[in-house]
Amino acid sequence: MNISNHTSKTTPRHFLDIHETPATELRKIINLAHTMKKMDRQHLPDHLSLHGDLTVLAMIFEKPSTRTRLSFDMAMRQLGGETTILNANDMQLGRGESIADTAKILSRFVDIVMIRSNSHHDLEELARHASIPVINGLTDFSHPCQVLADIMTFEEYLGPIKGRTVSWVGDGNNMATSWIHAARQFDFTLKLACPKDLSPTGQQLEDINNSGGTIILTSDPGEAVAHSDCVVTDTWVSMGDEDEERRKKLLAPYQVNAALMKKASKNAIFMHCLPAHREEEVTTDIIDGPQSVVFDEAENRLHAQKAVLAWCLQLV
Ligand code: CP
Ligand code: NVA
Repeated sequence: MNISNHTSKTTPRHFLDIHETPATELRKIINLAHTMKKMDRQHLPDHLSLHGDLTVLAMIFEKPSTRTRLSFDMAMRQLGGETTILNANDMQLGRGESIADTAKILSRFVDIVMIRSNSHHDLEELARHASIPVINGLTDFSHPCQVLADIMTFEEYLGPIKGRTVSWVGDGNNMATSWIHAARQFDFTLKLACPKDLSPTGQQLEDINNSGGTIILTSDPGEAVAHSDCVVTDTWVSMGDEDEERRKKLLAPYQVNAALMKKASKNAIFMHCLPAHREEEVTTDIIDGPQSVVFDEAENRLHAQKAVLAWCLQLV
């Protein structure tokens, strides 16, 4: 590590949210992810390889993770870098050290940081004070890395997403936010069906209003799914949600099942970021059936994360 890198005035390339990343750069990342998937991971072209240049990714987890942890860890190793995993509770952060000081310390030891945070505000604060790139590995507000992998998966199955229709059915949560951001940046129609009490609010609504008319909000799942190319749902109880019983009651009519999938286009795919709760947000016959692409979607986290890392580290 070169200390001068960390005191230089160049602005680090953070990946915090899809709507904050220019559409041309997002397209570059997705195309790279498609290319990365086809490449022999042992023989990356020199410009995409970190071998011989001890580059370290720190991953901070304030919430549990299987896919995000594995995909970033393997992505970094396959690029030729290394990783260190920090559980927030084992850091001084958990005892009240400020995020600003933590950002400055991280910037002196490692080259890039991914954080899964309880609070989007904390993510932004970390990015503001870090002189190295910061990646959003999920917050209470958004999950942009997952939606990049989802767009990659959509395109593998159905071709370019531009001009197509994606339907979100269920909770207006952090995944819904990143789909909202993606609709404008990738120029597709997004139809969201959420119960009124769990519909997008605040900043999410503003982002919908800024989307240029490509997003339709309804409380009717059948209306949202009609003639759609892709039906997406997520857990009814996200990490940090405390009102489990209320949510399950409100969301029961939003289950993705065979009757609902029939309303989508004949070739529609089903996506879920996982972890899934069979017979709650989705029935077993759908998630384990022929329209489901959930395990490709999970694998694509690896390729998308490799592309995000390469972009943040300015290899592309
Ligand atoms: N989809 C997703 O982010 O999974 P993890 O919570 O396991 O990381
Ligand atoms: N909405 C879910 C996504 C998990 C990957 C959560 O925040 O728990």
